[in-house]
Amino acid sequence: MAVAEFRHRIDEGTDPMSLTGKKIVIIGGTSGIGFAVARQALAAGADVVVASSSQERVDAAAGRLGGRAEGRRLDVADDDAIAAFFGRVGEFDHLVYTAGESLLIKPLADTTPQEARGVFERRFWGAFLSAKHAAPRLRDGGSITFSSGVLAVRPLSGTALAAGITGGVEALSRALAVELAPLRVNVIRPGVISTELWDGSVPDPEGFLEGAGSALLTRRVGTAEEAAAAYLFALSNGYVTGTTVAVDGGAALV
Ligand SMILES: NC(=O)c1ccc[n+]([C@@H]2O[C@H](COP(=O)([O-])OP(=O)(O)OC[C@H]3O[C@@H](n4cnc5c(N)ncnc54)[C@H](OP(=O)(O)O)[C@@H]3O)[C@@H](O)[C@H]2O)c1
Repeated sequence: MAVAEFRHRIDEGTDPMSLTGKKIVIIGGTSGIGFAVARQALAAGADVVVASSSQERVDAAAGRLGGRAEGRRLDVADDDAIAAFFGRVGEFDHLVYTAGESLLIKPLADTTPQEARGVFERRFWGAFLSAKHAAPRLRDGGSITFSSGVLAVRPLSGTALAAGITGGVEALSRALAVELAPLRVNVIRPGVISTELWDGSVPDPEGFLEGAGSALLTRRVGTAEEAAAAYLFALSNGYVTGTTVAVDGGAALV
């Protein structure tokens, strides 16, 4: 949108940053951060499609969101399913990618090639192929928002895979912002956020989240709603592209 048109729309009383009536597809939107994005997008007047691999979770999330929410099953480890999914969804305005399974925290020496490649399937290749099939269907003013993580810049021992994927997704996001412009592409870099992700990642999730929080500048971990607010910012602000937004309790400084 040209600057003159942007001003004209403000003068007319139409907010160019409004999400009202926009269609937002959230891959991984049935749980945690993605679910909170769906809730906030609906509250902002958007229509949402939430997708993930478990039909049960899809139905439960769509039921909890109600109203203008639609649920669709998609396993992002299946390349053909990704292409078919976007074919069925048709034209839309914004893609949010939050799909990812529990973290594999393991020393390099103990990680098998199969495990390592499996993790990249969902978090990296799933994101890459979703962008590929979504881009031609995104309307003018549209955007893609990926998810990385603080391990991209502050890795811990045993997190080489997660660090590699999150760093890769950040680089992918910048490259696609250049290639797909004026379509906007951004990435949100969450620190530790209290979601279902930790249930399968560490033996004592509650103890872990308390310990992780006490080491942060905020003295607590983040909520899914706090993380989701950063996605809403990236979706709605038409002057934001090629950037990484951290929501991490100051984790990069401790
Ligand atoms: N929570 C944190 O502390 C944190 C920190 C840094 C980065 N992140 C990143 O933020 C993103 C969201 O995390 P979260 O905490 O919201 O996780 P979450 O609550 O576990 O949600 C993950 C979502 O991904 C979906 N998913 C998993 N495998 C899938 C597959 N093969 N195909 C399609 N969907 C799939 C899950 O649904 P199904 O099980 O139904 O497939 C679920 O909807 C992830 O990329 C995560 O790595 C999170």
